[in-house]
Amino acid sequence: MTKRLEMYRCEICGNLVEVILEGEGELVCCGQAMTILHGKNKDNEGLEKHVPVFDIKENGKCEVRVGSVLHPMNDDHYIMFIETISDDKNDIHLKYLHPGMEAKLELEEKLGKLTAREFCNLHGLWEGESD
Ligand SMILES: [Fe+2]
Repeated sequence: MTKRLEMYRCEICGNLVEVILEGEGELVCCGQAMTILHGKNKDNEGLEKHVPVFDIKENGKCEVRVGSVLHPMNDDHYIMFIETISDDKNDIHLKYLHPGMEAKLELEEKLGKLTAREFCNLHGLWEGESD
């Protein structure tokens, strides 16, 4: 049984999937059950470079930055995507990133509480919550 917006990874081939609509079945890839991922947000080394933080600009836009110290975006170590999720889980924004870009996502406005998560190619899934 899956739940909406859960993320699962295949330990063999690296497929990473997000559940859009939940179902009864177990997710399987390369012949074995996929592993559910949980966003890290505390008690982990590298916290300050990985937990997303929120910054409301004067123009009302909301900038989501990966890390209170901005995460590097090098060829061998970078943030692969950032996603924001509204509190009711109905409004989702996903941005893919590539080396050389900034580890940021900008929203036109911030309506209510948000969760942001990001995936580092070396350090996995992390998440943070806005006020
Ligand atoms: Fe990292």
